Amino acid sequence: MIDSNTIPSYLHADHLGPWETYLTQVERVAPYIETRLLPWVETLRRPKRILVVDIPIKLENGTIAHFEGYRVQHNLSRGPGKGGIRFHPEVTLSEVMALSAWMTIKNAVVNVPYGGAKGGIRVDPKQLSRDELERLTRRYTSEINVIIGPDKDIPAPDVNTNEQVMAWLMDTYSMNQGRTVTGVVTGKPISLGGSLGRHDATGRGVFVTACEAAKKLGLAIDGARVAVQGFGNVGEAAARIFHDHGAKVVAVQDETGTVHNANGIDPRQLLAYRREAGTLAGYPGAETIAAGDFWGLDCDFLVPAALEGQINERNAGQIKARVVVEGANGPTTPGADSILHERGIVVVPDVLANAGGVTVSYFEWVQDMSAYFWTEAEIAQRLERIMSEAFSSVWDVAQQKSLSLRTAAFVVACQRVLEARALRGLYP
Ligand SMILES: NC(=O)c1ccc[n+]([C@@H]2O[C@H](COP(=O)([O-])OP(=O)(O)OC[C@H]3O[C@@H](n4cnc5c(N)ncnc54)[C@H](O)[C@@H]3O)[C@@H](O)[C@H]2O)c1
Repeated sequence: MIDSNTIPSYLHADHLGPWETYLTQVERVAPYIETRLLPWVETLRRPKRILVVDIPIKLENGTIAHFEGYRVQHNLSRGPGKGGIRFHPEVTLSEVMALSAWMTIKNAVVNVPYGGAKGGIRVDPKQLSRDELERLTRRYTSEINVIIGPDKDIPAPDVNTNEQVMAWLMDTYSMNQGRTVTGVVTGKPISLGGSLGRHDATGRGVFVTACEAAKKLGLAIDGARVAVQGFGNVGEAAARIFHDHGAKVVAVQDETGTVHNANGIDPRQLLAYRREAGTLAGYPGAETIAAGDFWGLDCDFLVPAALEGQINERNAGQIKARVVVEGANGPTTPGADSILHERGIVVVPDVLANAGGVTVSYFEWVQDMSAYFWTEAEIAQRLERIMSEAFSSVWDVAQQKSLSLRTAAFVVACQRVLEARALRGLYP
């Protein structure tokens, strides 16, 4: 029999995976929160609402498969929940809880009027047919239908989910409502109320914050060497935008391989090669190297844009970059964070660096609500302004209080979240 005392509460940070990382980050920020807001800090450690769902679907072979799904609303003090949906075989509740909390922080860092939420299904979508994937998405949407909506909680794409998945989600929600509700998700196809610029938005935001960091540190983007881990929505766009601004993409790594060329790789050619070959390995314009050698490569900017925990205590000592710009959510463990800090490597944290995606998601939602659509130039300009202003307020707090950019970003965000919480007061 299991002794119930051995099962930890989610408030105990030991062995809790990504949620443990988040709780550690809250501990680091607590000493810098204004005294009058301290009574509310506990709310940051407790997700407001967690929905765990069973998703049964009929497979092509006639059998029924069950998948576990989640939607977590971490904090709704500043507005409706906002955050992506991830399809991955290793999705856990701990991960979705952490990702939802980072959305709370991220939305507050860029000051968009949302709380934090996230969803996920523990599934390897590559093992499913397109029809199975559609059934999975539609059943999951029906199961979480009770807590989502354009003024309640607005999902978006994340790892292994894309515009098509968002279109199915929007359609399923709309069918249940009996009317078309485009504003229930963002990251939709343009023809269904999606926003221009959303596809590249996260990668563009990574680039904008890298430029801001470069200005502060006296580095040039032209000719800078960039290594990118993850060559999906975020990593591919970031690599391409760096390349288009004169930087040299010296290495790219994804699940299928790692390629390196000190003279630079053309991201468009690499993407075309991967589409054709199904792997990065063997790309003729670069040398294929062992995955573990990626971290020690000479570069100026390192962009982790894959999954959590990739920069850890094992490899943080090898990193040669001047700046780490976190495209992924939670790519650096707290232990690695301390090592990078001691080694003088500047980390532009995920909650700031990858906030371009949610910022343009916010634009998409505003456009859907007003049924009036903006030009790509307007979107790029507004994105750049929001990201640069956010960078600047985080940088200033970091300088004033001698903090890392991550802790400074948490200070800025937590103050905003807790201020809203305090003003709203406690119900009943
Ligand atoms: N899509 C967005 O708008 C957005 C916004 C903010 C943050 N993020 C974060 O960025 C990260 C990437 O998201 P995405 O939307 O680009 O996902 P994606 O599915 O489009 O791409 C993920 C990439 O990571 C690679 N990858 C997976 N496991 C890997 C491993 N072990 N080693 C090396 N590479 C690996 C995959 O091969 C793929 O190239 C995630 O942490 C996500 O939460 C995404």
